[in-house]
Amino acid sequence: MRLLLFILISIILSPILIIGLIVYTYRLRRFSIPQKISGTANEPHGARVLMHVAGTRKDSVAYALCGHLPVYSLAVRYCMIEVFHLACLLSGYKGSFFSYPGPRPSTLMTFISHRTSFFDDAINDALTRADNPARQFVVLGAGFDTRCYDLPTGADVKCFEVDMAPTLNAKITGLRSAGIPHDHVSFVETDFNQQTWFDALVDAGLDTSLTTFILWEGVTMYLNEDAVLDTFKLAAGLPEGSEISFDYFSGELINLEPPYEKVGSRMLKSSMKYYEEELLYGISTQKPAREKVEKVLNDCCLQLSKLEHTQTEEPPTIPMYCFATARTD
Ligand SMILES: C[S@@+](CC[C@H](N)C(=O)[O-])C[C@H]1O[C@@H](n2cnc3c(N)ncnc32)[C@H](O)[C@@H]1O
Repeated sequence: MRLLLFILISIILSPILIIGLIVYTYRLRRFSIPQKISGTANEPHGARVLMHVAGTRKDSVAYALCGHLPVYSLAVRYCMIEVFHLACLLSGYKGSFFSYPGPRPSTLMTFISHRTSFFDDAINDALTRADNPARQFVVLGAGFDTRCYDLPTGADVKCFEVDMAPTLNAKITGLRSAGIPHDHVSFVETDFNQQTWFDALVDAGLDTSLTTFILWEGVTMYLNEDAVLDTFKLAAGLPEGSEISFDYFSGELINLEPPYEKVGSRMLKSSMKYYEEELLYGISTQKPAREKVEKVLNDCCLQLSKLEHTQTEEPPTIPMYCFATARTD
């Protein structure tokens, strides 16, 4: 009943939603892509804002940032986010992509809430555990992530956000314009494809003798294999108890191999076309998926501590998307 009501309200308000989608696409193509500001960073940000307005996961900072970003302008906020906000309020619907932590196994509609909940738990555990909590929190490929502005109670960490200059500058401008305090965060401009990117982090004050938690959410798929493996190896050099939490696509999807040769090709083409960003890296998720990622991590001197994935591993399905945490020895 709630879903029906939600759909009905959305249909009635669809002209406004369509205007929002047009403005979103216009701003993406007119401002974001020409200035090399990540377009894909808008998707997880938007998903977290939708969970916030549906009341399933609080993220006041992500919501406050809406209206102050190159793509999520005020027009997009009012024509898309606020319309869904109203539809959720009137219908009471909180399912599908609004759900949090979402169902298990997760599906293609709920993978972002699964991913968000996996990383929320990893951050919470690393920053607040009694034994050897992380003293530094590094968000690699931070995009419009807002975890540094809503730290778990009791966390005592130095925060770093790392991204390429255009995206980082757009975020800082947005934070300023929205009046969100950000002086406690060190912003580090760099490119993971450059071999010296870690030096930029150390120059910005990262202390390599402190237990560190690295969040690397939604990034590995955009990098080449060398950049991913080098990052794992750098993380492995951090002190005992340090962790890196990351996600990856199925290698079969990225390489257009069965069972994803068709859907992979459609996904790769549409992401290239709309956001002009390329999907490059994946790890095989053929059963047992755990062994495949373990091998990659062990070769980089890391140990897999947690793995979750969308869908099931039962043939003929293989997981399309995985979430993992690895620790140093
Ligand atoms: C899909 S977004 C994810 C953003 C954020 N982690 C989140 O989940 O909301 C990918 C981010 O990785 C960054 N990124 C991609 N390639 C990069 C590279 N070579 N060096 C640094 N950052 C990169 C993009 O600028 C973008 O902000």
